[in-house]
Parts: sequence; C-alpha cells; structure tokens
Amino acid sequence: MPVMPGELLRFVEESEFRGTGLLVDCTVGEGGHSELFLNRFANIRIIAFDRDGEILEIARERLRKHAGRIDFINDNFAHISQHLGQVRGRVHYVLYDFGISSYHFDESGRGFGFARDERLDMRLDGCGESAEEIVNTADEKTLADIIFRYGEERWSRRIASAIVRARRGKPVGTTGELADIVLGAIPKRFHVKNIHPATRVFQALRIAVNDELGAIGRSLDDAHGLLAPGGRIMAISFHSLEDRIVKDKFRRLGRGCLCSEEPRNCRCAGTPYVKLLTKKPLRPDVEETARNSRARSARLRVCEKLAEARPSGILS
Ligand SMILES: C[S@@+](CC[C@H](N)C(=O)[O-])C[C@H]1O[C@@H](n2cnc3c(N)ncnc32)[C@H](O)[C@@H]1O
Repeated sequence: MPVMPGELLRFVEESEFRGTGLLVDCTVGEGGHSELFLNRFANIRIIAFDRDGEILEIARERLRKHAGRIDFINDNFAHISQHLGQVRGRVHYVLYDFGISSYHFDESGRGFGFARDERLDMRLDGCGESAEEIVNTADEKTLADIIFRYGEERWSRRIASAIVRARRGKPVGTTGELADIVLGAIPKRFHVKNIHPATRVFQALRIAVNDELGAIGRSLDDAHGLLAPGGRIMAISFHSLEDRIVKDKFRRLGRGCLCSEEPRNCRCAGTPYVKLLTKKPLRPDVEETARNSRARSARLRVCEKLAEARPSGILS
C-alpha cells in the first residue's frame, strides 16, 4: 500500500507541470506509488528504479497495462545520473520512498526480520557482504558501532559482546539465532512493550549491509541536477537517520550550497537552488496510520528546483 498517496498526488498535481512530464520513481518496490501516478495522470511517464531485481519483476507485472508509459531500471538509485544523462534537466518529479517493502519481510526469504527463522542475508541486490558475514567476522567494536550508529541502540556494546561470545561456539547463521542473542543481551526490565529488542539491531545491519544512507546522500545531489526548473523532489523517510540526510540536503540546496563541507567551512555562493515546500516534514493523517501501520513513522519532505538555479555540480 503506497504511503501518503493524497499528499504526493497533490504535490504532483499542484506543480507547474500539473501532473504531466517525466517522473523518476527511485524506489518502485511493488509499484504502488507508480501505479497511483499512472492511474491519475494520463500524461505522465515514469522511469522506475529498484536495486532488487526480484521486486522489480513484481512491479513490472503489476504495471503491465501501463507498459508503454513506464521503463524499469534494476540498479541502485545512487547511480541515477549514470542512467539518465539523456534526460538531464528534463525530469519533472523525483520520488524516494526509502527502506524496504513488506515483500522483503514477508516473502523474500533473505532474513530482513525475525518473524521467521531465515538465513541472515539482507542484501537487496546480492552484492557485497551479507549480514551473516558481518555478524560473524566484524570485530566487536565495529559491530557495536554499526548497532549504535544505524540502530541508535543504547545497548550496542552489550549486544556486540554477546554476539562475539556466541559466535565463538558456532557461527550465527539465522535470524532466530541473532534475535535470541539480542534478547538475552538486553536486561529484561529495559525491554519495551510491543517492540522486540532485536528490531533496532536488524535495522542497523540492513542499513550497513546495503550502505543505505550513503546511497541517499549521493542520489539527492544527482536528482537535483536532473530536474527541470520547477521540478520537485519528494522524499519519504521512515527513521531519523534518513530524514536527517534529506533535511540537510534540502536545506543546503535552499541556501545555494552543493558542497559537502561543514556549514562553517562552506563557501557556496548563496543563490538558492530550491524552494522548500515543506518547512517541517509532513506526517500521514490518523486515518492512514490506522489503515497502514507502515505509514506510522513516515515523514515527507518536498523541494522545488528554482528557475534561476545553476546546473548541479558547477561551483564557483
Ligand atoms: C518502501 S519500498 C517502496 C515501495 C513503493 N513505493 C510502493 O509503493 O510499492 C522501498 C524500495 O526501495 C528499494 N531500494 C532501497 N534502497 C534502494 C536503492 N539504494 N536504490 C534503488 N532501490 C532501493 C527497495 O528494494 C524497496 O523495493
């Protein structure tokens, strides 16, 4: 079920292009948002990315009746500009719906959650180290850092130490084994009602395995460069780590900055590249969160490229 559909439709409809033109769906997933736009706007075309080839095929099947208006690219959205060079400056909307889909938890069999006992893999595209490799080979400090930074877990050191102790006996191979180790590492009186203690650890490993945050930062710069003046970037985050990157990037673009320096060292010219259309992130309304539990933590930020903005990547 696509998150914040009404808000997104409004941002597309009320733009200068009024729902016509080219939309890049950076995270097509099962195709929910793309389907929404294709159904509503007869004159929209979509280029849809997903780094997971399996889910991309689900979207392709779902959107078969719109086949003439949507193209699919199986790659990381960190590489959008490599694929979209020929439409640079001619994209009207870019959408991000970060994270993973319910398909990943329920059907992929790749160990994203602990509702089932599955092999600890967590790779979206089969590339790089799996969660199992990290859990069994990273040193204790690295494990604690991953769990603290990407899971914001205060018990990160205890959990890392418990993992290292457990794997001395036998490698940690499955989601169930890891969840049990985490459960045992956090004192019972600190367990939070209705939230499994391993939730943050699984989030942390998934982010590390897929370098999720690095991909967001790289892609947002490129997205701005692809937009036509008046075009909009719409980004839905599900935790503060994602939202912080979007907020920081939009603010920098809003004050005419394309560099990655700390604000005090930034020498960018100061002519805004974008207008922020959401000063604070928008949240889904209560009806939506009652209908769709995944929407509960969603935050939407939107910015619009200004007509006088200089092309992205050129600094004076
Ligand atoms: C929350 S789901 C998207 C759901 C989709 N908007 C819908 O309505 O069905 C996020 C999707 O983004 C994909 N994804 C995550 N990181 C990605 C990246 N760096 N590049 C491309 N796709 C990515 C995941 O594989 C997942 O399918």
